[in-house]
Amino acid sequence: MMNEKAAGTGVNSKQTKESIGQSPGRRADLEDTFREIHEHKPIGHREPILEGNIQVRHKPSKSNMGRVPTGIPGFDKVIEGGLKKHSVTLAGGCAGAGKSIFAMQYLINGITQFNEPGVYVSFEENREEIFDDMACFGWDLEELEKQGKFVFLRYNPDQVNKVLKTGGGPIRDVIDSIGAKRLVIDSISAFSLLYETELKQREAALSLFYILRRWDCTTMVTGQYFAVELPHDSAAVEFEVDNIIWLYNIKKEDIRVRAIEVFKMRGTKHSVKTFPFEITTEGIVIYPEETIF
Ligand SMILES: Nc1ncnc2c1ncn2[C@@H]1O[C@H](COP(=O)(O)OP(=O)(O)OP(=O)(O)O)[C@@H](O)[C@H]1O
Ligand SMILES: [Mg+2]
Repeated sequence: MMNEKAAGTGVNSKQTKESIGQSPGRRADLEDTFREIHEHKPIGHREPILEGNIQVRHKPSKSNMGRVPTGIPGFDKVIEGGLKKHSVTLAGGCAGAGKSIFAMQYLINGITQFNEPGVYVSFEENREEIFDDMACFGWDLEELEKQGKFVFLRYNPDQVNKVLKTGGGPIRDVIDSIGAKRLVIDSISAFSLLYETELKQREAALSLFYILRRWDCTTMVTGQYFAVELPHDSAAVEFEVDNIIWLYNIKKEDIRVRAIEVFKMRGTKHSVKTFPFEITTEGIVIYPEETIF
């Protein structure tokens, strides 16, 4: 397994542009490597058989009703304006793929651009680590907390069980107290580890998502996934969510390129392309007009 987190740093604009402008031979090489290393093949997934000169065009509908814009530059226009209200989205990918940044940016944009308070539930990292990491992007989480628009919750197994047993508990109370419209759970993989068997994990995820859908929030969960040849425990989660977004960090020789794909989005005519993105000083920026190879 590659240590993606360690090697995933320092992708800059110049590197992305260089890898985008490869010769056709090198391009094919990159494409093969990308497929071999990063393609996620959930159970039941089949490659479409496309014959002839078929072009898939993305033509979003005009209505943005019931949509929750992520505000992430370049992203909303490929998903008909935003996530469906009250839906549950999985942002999945390898370690260091940018899942936490993506999810936090969705929350911050909700607060600063759409006046929608947000709650961030962390199963992995503590408050100081997250607040510190996110400050690099100019996101002052402490200030947003003081304004009563943002809450960070470090979650433990007991509290989770309470949510599942009562359908409410402390998360629900916090959501109600600030009138949160956006919720992030980082990560569902860590949540799944609380349960021993795949069946129990699946049942717990099903119950959790069932409860979350009834709250007045549009939820994003992150999940750590590896390349298909490596075993992972949380495959079951893929089937319970409304939307799946894959984040990739593709390595070829000494260059890594970040990419994003909307793998599934219920009720949405989303783009079928995998787009390059960068982590800039202002957070994630997606380039829908560009290609990764
Ligand atoms: N200020 C920054 N500028 C540019 N890139 C950054 C910055 N901060 C972090 N990164 C990149 O983002 C990666 C971490 O992103 P993030 O924490 O969102 O990943 P993740 O997918 O949540 O990882 P994990 O599975 O370990 O939780 C780092 O490894 C680094 O490559
Ligand atoms: Mg993370």
